[in-house]
Amino acid sequence: MTSSLPPITRKLGVTPRIRALASFVPPTTRVFVDIGTNHAILPIAVLREQRAMRCIGIDKSASALEDAQRRLRRCHALDRVELRIGDGLEPLTRDEVDTICIAGVGPRTVAAILTDGLPLMKEQEVRLVLNPFGGSAETRTFLAEHGFALLADTEVMDRGRTYTILVAQRGASRLERQL
Ligand SMILES: C[S@@+](CC[C@H](N)C(=O)[O-])C[C@H]1O[C@@H](n2cnc3c(N)ncnc32)[C@H](O)[C@@H]1O
Repeated sequence: MTSSLPPITRKLGVTPRIRALASFVPPTTRVFVDIGTNHAILPIAVLREQRAMRCIGIDKSASALEDAQRRLRRCHALDRVELRIGDGLEPLTRDEVDTICIAGVGPRTVAAILTDGLPLMKEQEVRLVLNPFGGSAETRTFLAEHGFALLADTEVMDRGRTYTILVAQRGASRLERQL
């Protein structure tokens, strides 16, 4: 996979937390989906590290996506990051379920997005990269109750704060049994 994108600069807003999230996106990722993408910083970081062929950034805020569009243009990444407005996984189709990140929202929102997205994830290989803000108990319960194996459970320090990152995966055969 080649990238013609300029290197990451601090100005882009790629913090240690964003870098850590990007590091859990497997380099073989076909479609990287960032739910709650806000300014699309994470998809840009993922592309620059050559971890995905293409990205989809989803946000329920139109103004956030307008800002994201400007940032993508500045970073020459408009052709590889598609922005969609909507709630959680709702703007996705089944063939776009691959590696999905939900970061920077509260644990209840993470759980609600994943619960609503369960039908779309059914019978799909899916990797989740999760970074709930303000506690991870609900996210852990969701993962355990729905048959996701925890691949990583780690903390990252960023500007004086500690953030939890959970990486989970579920395979197609297991999905069939669970849903
Ligand atoms: C604090 S920002 C986090 C941005 C980025 N993910 C990060 O970790 O830095 C939260 C973003 O999630 C979006 N958001 C919250 N709930 C959402 C939902 N159910 N579906 C899509 N976007 C959502 C908000 O509009 C906002 O842009």
